[in-house]
Amino acid sequence: MIKVVILIGGPMKGTRFRPLSLELPKPLFPIGGFPVVYHHIEACKKIPDLKEIILIGFYQSSESLSRFIQNAQQEFNIPIRYLQEFQPLGTAGGIYHFRDQIAMGDPEAFLVLNADIIGDYPLIDFSSLRMISSNLNFHQQANKKQAHNFGCLVQDPETHKVLHYVEKPETFVSEIINCGIYIFSPAALFKLMGEIIQKNYQKMSEEPFPGNVESVRMGEDVLATLASAGSLYAFKSSSFWSSIKNAGSAIYANRNVLAMYHKTHPDLLAQSGKGQPHIRGDVYIHPSAVVHPSAVLGPNVSVGSNVVIGAGARVRETILLDGAELKDHCCILYSIIGWNCSIGMWSRVEGSRCDPNPNEEFSRPDGESLFGEDGKLTPSITILGRNVTIPGEVIVLNSIVLPHKDLGQSYKNEIIL
Ligand code: GDD
Ligand code: GTP
Repeated sequence: MIKVVILIGGPMKGTRFRPLSLELPKPLFPIGGFPVVYHHIEACKKIPDLKEIILIGFYQSSESLSRFIQNAQQEFNIPIRYLQEFQPLGTAGGIYHFRDQIAMGDPEAFLVLNADIIGDYPLIDFSSLRMISSNLNFHQQANKKQAHNFGCLVQDPETHKVLHYVEKPETFVSEIINCGIYIFSPAALFKLMGEIIQKNYQKMSEEPFPGNVESVRMGEDVLATLASAGSLYAFKSSSFWSSIKNAGSAIYANRNVLAMYHKTHPDLLAQSGKGQPHIRGDVYIHPSAVVHPSAVLGPNVSVGSNVVIGAGARVRETILLDGAELKDHCCILYSIIGWNCSIGMWSRVEGSRCDPNPNEEFSRPDGESLFGEDGKLTPSITILGRNVTIPGEVIVLNSIVLPHKDLGQSYKNEIIL
């Protein structure tokens, strides 16, 4: 029997996803029309002998989270529970804190997934992976310049045993990066974590301002120790995978999830037709959205519930969140339009693409920080927070607009507070 743990973090996380994460836990942000963790759950459902899915985080249980869990349980017919940390316990502390819940029923192994990743998960192979009695870390290839943003590992090419693991190394270690997907054998992992916490106790008893002894970091504490003990193995995944750190990478993720729908859910991709809007490339439209037949959507657009799109509007490489209204002839490119925003007639909302560099192999979406070294705002997608109103005939370019703003003019390269 297998269990799944998804690490969903909490309200102090997701800072690079503001202002969108101010409104909604980042794991519930829709990619390809469905919350990020919905994609995790859907992929896990394919694991044979899956017993339950446990979400661990430090969000206060909210209506949106409870509703999501309830709907997903019904849809996928699998028990899903949310366990809340009393305070942030780090990327592995929650797993130890709730070890009794995870170990209940005596699973042979449990899978851990970071919530802020998305991919064409290689989970179908899990039935065979169960045979492995040790711990497994999924990895991908990155390029040399970007690898330091991730956990990096060095493996034995023959046995795939991890020889060395460094979390976000300052100097170059390896181009093999940790995907934030692991399979652990419970007994061995909990024993190791117990030892780490014991060491924390000893260290902190000597500190004047001791931190939280129960806080355990997955990379620095757990994976590095497992690697040095020779009990961590690497599993290479070469299908699509991306972390979703900032809103720019959400547009990239959205494009790739829509592309995956050709294989997994062709029924979710909109088609042009008589009386239908003109569709270019991959587009998801929620059934409750109302789109004028003369509008042109795509490629790579997701349209949320109750969105209204007027005549002649043009939308491309964009996520429109629930309840947004696009008035006639507006043009939206490379943007995320927040819940219940209103875009006036003939207005243009445009951002810059944050795609991986196509000229570099294994490149990943960039834009780790909002500001460049010169202190200027890095050109990125345009983001409108909830309930922003853009009047007619203005241009909003490469800007971030905080929720509930009523803009009266055009803006370029600004954060509008
Ligand atoms: N429950 C809980 N409690 N979850 C947490 C906490 C916590 O205190 N802190 C972080 N998380 C969750 C986040 O929500 C996210 O899903 C995951 O743990 C990873 O947390 P980050 O701290 O954001 O790590 P990262 O994304 O920068 O790096 C991790 O992921 C990379 C791949 O995307 C590492 O595992 C890297 O090694 C890896 O390459
Ligand atoms: P790239 O070569 O990939 O950059 O695309 P492009 O040359 O088609 O131009 P761009 O990215 O600027 O525009 C994307 C789409 O939006 C194109 O189909 C344009 O025709 C359309 N578009 C651009 N500006 C406007 C506008 O102001 N109004 C409307 N309705 N459509 C526009």
